Amino acid sequence: MPRAGTNMVELFREELELCGVGPGERVAVLSEGDQLRDYAEAFLTAARALGADVEDVNLRSDGAKSASERIAHLGKNSLTGDRAAMETLKAADLVVDHMLLLFSREQIEIQEAGTRMLLVVEPFEVLERLFPSEDLRRRVEAGEARLAKARTLRFTNAAGTDVTYQLGERPILTEYGYTDTPGRWDHWPGGFLSTIGAKGRGEGRVVMDRGDIVYPHKRMLGEPVEFVVRDGAVADIRGGAEAAELRKFMESYQDPRAYALSHIGWGLNDRCEWTVERPGIGMDGRAYYGNVLFSLGPDTEFGGDNDTECHLDLPMRRCSLWLDDELIVKDGEVIPEDMRAPGR
Ligand code: FE2
Repeated sequence: MPRAGTNMVELFREELELCGVGPGERVAVLSEGDQLRDYAEAFLTAARALGADVEDVNLRSDGAKSASERIAHLGKNSLTGDRAAMETLKAADLVVDHMLLLFSREQIEIQEAGTRMLLVVEPFEVLERLFPSEDLRRRVEAGEARLAKARTLRFTNAAGTDVTYQLGERPILTEYGYTDTPGRWDHWPGGFLSTIGAKGRGEGRVVMDRGDIVYPHKRMLGEPVEFVVRDGAVADIRGGAEAAELRKFMESYQDPRAYALSHIGWGLNDRCEWTVERPGIGMDGRAYYGNVLFSLGPDTEFGGDNDTECHLDLPMRRCSLWLDDELIVKDGEVIPEDMRAPGR
């Protein structure tokens, strides 16, 4: 783990080493306009220092958005229709994405070409504090192995949540903060895993409690909000003023696909803090150790065709989660030995 005060090129070089970058590797660094150009330059320098062939793919754009703006409107991006840039990215072994292609068709096309992808958009303070490790990867993959075998996922909390997903043949998305596997995507920082339930299935209710978090809003709820789940989608949102606000937000997309259940999983990064005060898009809440990350909206990341731009990530604390009959998280504590963080 890097020391505090590490400089950017040095930290990025350590990250690229975890990603298996070395001589002969082709690394493309993708950025848009002047967004995160300091990151792009530092990654290019670090990759060169490791002996890699580098490509700076900087899309000219007048309307480049910050990561926080992008995450609220995923799906469409400046790469759409830019075949030259797409071919360069697909020819690389690793693409470092400073643009936030998440949940886009372009990202899927790049991955299908065998290119691995690393998303890096968070503030430097967050990248440094949540720098990944091989131990985090091991624990996330222990979760992945269980998820791959499970047929159902159920989670509850004291506020009244009790919802069950039917798991099918869908892929499992792991995030541990780096990637050395061809075609695989990851996000630095990470530390959680997720999958998606069978389309049109999933029943029960999810009651987010006071103190649970709403992303992309980066907001901590001041009162419970209840989602009634029927046939794999939210049929009703009940509660007070905050429930009404969420309803209004979702209605503003005028897209019935916004209500579909999206990814579901739990967090394993014990260095994350339960806060919305940190800068950035909010990986602290999403990867928080022992959370359940409930989510609504698109399923393109899992091979589906729901590319709605409305995507809510809703991490919840103190839940209990089962895969079939095995207890994975109990009141926010991770139970299986091989997934537990050192000292937990
Ligand atoms: Fe999400």
